Amino acid sequence: MASHLIVDGFGSKAMLLRRRFEEVMADPEAPRSPERFSWDWWHVPGRYTHLRTPAARFFSKELMEGFRSELQAWGRIELGCGEISPIWLSLYVEGCEQNWHADHPHGPWAFVYSLTPKSNAFRGGETQLLRPEVLSRWSFTAQGEFHADAIIEKIAPKFSRLIAFDPRIPHGVTRVEGTRDPLVGRLVLHGWFTPPQIHIDGPLKPQQIRDFLKQLDVEIFHLLQGDSASNSKVRIWSSSGHAAFRLRVLASGKIQSFETLADSLRAPTPEQEVRDRKQLVTVMKKLVNRVRFPTRPRGSTITLPLSFE
Ligand SMILES: [Fe+2]
Repeated sequence: MASHLIVDGFGSKAMLLRRRFEEVMADPEAPRSPERFSWDWWHVPGRYTHLRTPAARFFSKELMEGFRSELQAWGRIELGCGEISPIWLSLYVEGCEQNWHADHPHGPWAFVYSLTPKSNAFRGGETQLLRPEVLSRWSFTAQGEFHADAIIEKIAPKFSRLIAFDPRIPHGVTRVEGTRDPLVGRLVLHGWFTPPQIHIDGPLKPQQIRDFLKQLDVEIFHLLQGDSASNSKVRIWSSSGHAAFRLRVLASGKIQSFETLADSLRAPTPEQEVRDRKQLVTVMKKLVNRVRFPTRPRGSTITLPLSFE
C-alpha cells in the first residue's frame, strides 16, 4: 500500500484562498491588514525554519470552514477520518525547510495542501518522504543502486495539490532556494486528521451496531493473539497503524457490501504487511456474512476505523 495519497486539483477553495493571500501580502508599502502581522518566524535550529500562522488567523471563518468541510468529507470517504486538528498556514522562502522528522502522536494521517503559485520561482520546497521499503531494508537482499532518488519520495508543491501521508514515516520539506518574495514562495495549509471515530450515515443508531462491535472486538482480539474465533488458522499479527472499512447496510439490516479504505498498516516486512491486510479482510468478511442489523426505513453506511498500536 502506498505511503501517501495525492489528489491534484483538490476542492473548490484554492483560488479563493490564494486570492486572499495575495490581497493581504501584495503591497509591502501598505501593511495595514492585521493578517500581515500574524506570521511567526518558526526557527528550531537543525529542524524547522519557515513562517507559520494558525490558518484561522489569516483567512476568514467562512473560507476556512468551506475548506475544512471539503477536507473532512474527503477524509471520511478515503481514510475513514473525518476530523481535523487546527490547520496551519506555512510560507517558505529562501532558506526555509523542514528537516527529517516524524509526527507522533499528532494523528493517523497528516495532510499538506499547496497554495503555491504556478511560477517556478524557486528550487526545492518538495514534501519528502522516506520510501517505506527503506524502513524494512534489512528484510531485502539489497539490489541495484542505493541513492537519494531511490530512497526518498519527493512531491512538488503543485498549486491545489493535496497530499495525505502517514506521519510516522520520516518526512520533511526540502530547502527553498531562489526567492525571498512571499508572493512566489511555497505556501501550504497543513495539519493532521485526528484519531477517527465510527461514523454512521443513515437511520441506524449507534446502539444498534453495538453487538456487531462486540463481535468485531472478539475477532480482532483473536487476530492479535494469533488464533481465530472460528478455529481457522491465523498467523501472528505484526502490523501497527490505522485501517478503515465502509459497510453498506440495506434497509432490511443485511450488510450489502463492504470496502476497505486507505490504511497505514506497517509491519516489519512487506510480506507480513500483505498477510495482515488479508487476515483483516477475512475477519470482516466473516462478520459481514454473520451479522444482521435491525430493520430500518432505509439503508445506512457505516465508516469503521480500526487502530493497531
Ligand atoms: Fe511533520
